[in-house]
Amino acid sequence: MSKNYYITTPIYYPSAKPHMGHAYSSIVADFFARFKRIDGYNVFYLTGTDEHGLKIQKAAEGKNQDPLDFCNEISKTFKDLSETLNLSNTDFIRTTEKRHHKSVQNLWNILEKKGEIYLSKYSGWYSISDEAFYLEDDIEEKNGSKVAKLSGSSVEWIEEESYFFKLSKWEDKLLELYENNKKFILPKSRKNEVVSFVKSGLKDLSVSRKSFSWGIKVPTNNDHVIYVWLDALTNYMSALNYPDTKNSLYKNFWPADLHLIGKDILRFHAVYWPAFLLAADLPLPKRIYGHGWILSGDEKMSKSKGNILDPLEIINEYGLDPLRYYLLKEVSFGNDGNISKDKLISCINSDLANNFGNLCQRVLTFTEKNLSLTVPNKVNFLDDDLNILNNFSNNYDKLMDYIDNQNINSYMNFIVDQMFLANKYFNDQEPWKKKNDFKRLNTIIYTSLELIRKIAILLYPVIPYSSLKVLNIFNINEKKIKVDTIKNNQYLENGMKINKINILFNKVE
Ligand code: ME8
Ligand code: MG
Repeated sequence: MSKNYYITTPIYYPSAKPHMGHAYSSIVADFFARFKRIDGYNVFYLTGTDEHGLKIQKAAEGKNQDPLDFCNEISKTFKDLSETLNLSNTDFIRTTEKRHHKSVQNLWNILEKKGEIYLSKYSGWYSISDEAFYLEDDIEEKNGSKVAKLSGSSVEWIEEESYFFKLSKWEDKLLELYENNKKFILPKSRKNEVVSFVKSGLKDLSVSRKSFSWGIKVPTNNDHVIYVWLDALTNYMSALNYPDTKNSLYKNFWPADLHLIGKDILRFHAVYWPAFLLAADLPLPKRIYGHGWILSGDEKMSKSKGNILDPLEIINEYGLDPLRYYLLKEVSFGNDGNISKDKLISCINSDLANNFGNLCQRVLTFTEKNLSLTVPNKVNFLDDDLNILNNFSNNYDKLMDYIDNQNINSYMNFIVDQMFLANKYFNDQEPWKKKNDFKRLNTIIYTSLELIRKIAILLYPVIPYSSLKVLNIFNINEKKIKVDTIKNNQYLENGMKINKINILFNKVE
């Protein structure tokens, strides 16, 4: 089995600054990337910006800027946000880069040579905001103007010469793919949506535009630019130096293990993308996960609706790790979720400060007073100790399963339970009353330190900064974290010096 793992976020439109929705996808992807790394995988985590098409061209015109200058500025705010969010991405791709152009034109040439693309004329509806073509049935009238039912964004009628991709031809093959590969699209409700969409019949897809120029040119006909979605989707391979299929990035990481996306762009990833790849005879990604939306009130938070929440404001006020913790724990993954400051504060105060932070402080202070900050020896576990310590080895396979099925909430619930149990253990064992029974006192401290270590390891993908602060107690740095060590109840060396720790989380009043 290969120990390589390739995970991607969508590449975001730099039509406006990033908001909480973008932060959410990227943080979730970072969670999986970090987990896989501590599970011994060689991880490639890709994010970036999607810079061509009419949407961007218009946004740049609106600011009287050259599209590339415009993209340079906003793409940088996305890149900066990756750092602010402490993302561990391996690369950041921009579709205006040369390496990407080369990939897209190559894929186009293959499709054209294989007879999968033909020249004709498009007449129909187009949404610039979604960069999507819609059928008459997908359109409704709202306040006197035509909008796409799916997204609510306005559409315009276009008629122009266009190349078409023979999407209709791949209907059966796609249905076969969904049927034979039950987890190709997750969650299941999303898969069902896609299956019924494909079953309702696929029309050939317009894959070029002639009436504007901001894009990658069709290599065989410079009057056309390639449809921005065919351009954008290819980023997942251009970052691996496709078409050089012999290079180690492509060899190690294609096909992707997980394209993590929002449900708004499911059709492009679960229908068009596999169809392009099937037509080009290239391997298909292993999974598409379409998560829900971060809402603002009861609407999707979006640039075009102007109802956005700036992640930087929340981070400045409450800190990054609390935000990451909140998004991963409180949003039911796969479903829509709201950002509520009350719930965020309750995560900080009760889970992080009172529960885990407090446990670390109490155990460390006690170890300092009674054992001068060394790991005690002569460990003699009783059932009380083993019961809680063994939770980690007993549930290990389950935890791995949660990760492989993108079941973030069960993973988080496990951690919350263990934080609670560890606190309870320390209270119930009352080590401060055991000063005459040194052997027992030592064992309680040893057990408590082990619990802190194990919990901090599981928290690493969630709140990396704070987890590393805690693991520093035991001189475990990022490179040394191995998730399978949570199965070991005696990882800590007897007599080893440990380090003190400052307050981890400040309570919010
Ligand atoms: O669609 N809640 O870019 P985009 C949760 N360039 N996630 C959200 C969100 C919200 N309110 N708003 C955005 C594009 N997202 C294309 C993608 S990929 C080859 C090309 C996240 O800037 C979510 O992941 O509109 C969603 O799918 C993505 O940002 C859309 O970002
Ligand atoms: Mg969008």
